[in-house]
Amino acid sequence: MMRLDRYLCETAGLTRSQAGKAVRAGRVTVNAIAVRKPDQKLDEQADRVTLDGSVCVYRRHRYYLLDKPTGVLTATEDRTQPTVLDLFPAEIRRQGLFPVGRLDKDTSGLLLLTDDGDFAHRVISPKSGIKKVYLAQVEGKLTQDDVCAFANGLVLRDGLRCLPAELEIINPSLARITVQEGKYHQVRRMLAACGKTVLTLRRISIGGLCLDSDTKAGHFRELTENDLCILFNGSLLEK
Ligand code: URA
Repeated sequence: MMRLDRYLCETAGLTRSQAGKAVRAGRVTVNAIAVRKPDQKLDEQADRVTLDGSVCVYRRHRYYLLDKPTGVLTATEDRTQPTVLDLFPAEIRRQGLFPVGRLDKDTSGLLLLTDDGDFAHRVISPKSGIKKVYLAQVEGKLTQDDVCAFANGLVLRDGLRCLPAELEIINPSLARITVQEGKYHQVRRMLAACGKTVLTLRRISIGGLCLDSDTKAGHFRELTENDLCILFNGSLLEK
């Protein structure tokens, strides 16, 4: 059971005081009956609530996909620099979102944000085997030796051993790289171990979930049930 004003905050992005005002103004119905008490209790799974005639859909957790631009930090707040949370409007920021893993300030592309800790752990953990795919533009020419080094499990310059990864050469200075772990600066350090400096790095997929083809830096959208299924299973839900 949940208070009506809290329900409206979570489903319609209102502040507690906006929710109270909306209820008292008669703009809200519960199971088709106009209600006036913001502290009324309801069953968030079963009751049907409308605000100004539109149904408020309750979701226990929130999941967003962001095309992260370069130049913003993967953090929830920072005193001096813009963060990925600054790209969302206030009503979404209020949902308690945090980034799932991190992309470096200079890396762009697919970043997930959620308020679901179990989900985040599942996506990040190497044990889940969820692959992350990056496009890397490098200085210098990629070779078949680099492909083999990635496949064999690279040893980074500080001695850290990586799980086997895939390096696919698209052209001599552009590669598609697939990893299943997320060590600090991992892709940059793997390429550095092969003597290559990264010029640009962009994440294009996580599991079966790819960036939308027409996406623009800074664009975000909420994940659908199908997206969640694709992310973990790499295929569409049976309709
Ligand atoms: N590997 C990196 O080096 N940087 C990122 O942002 C992500 C993976």
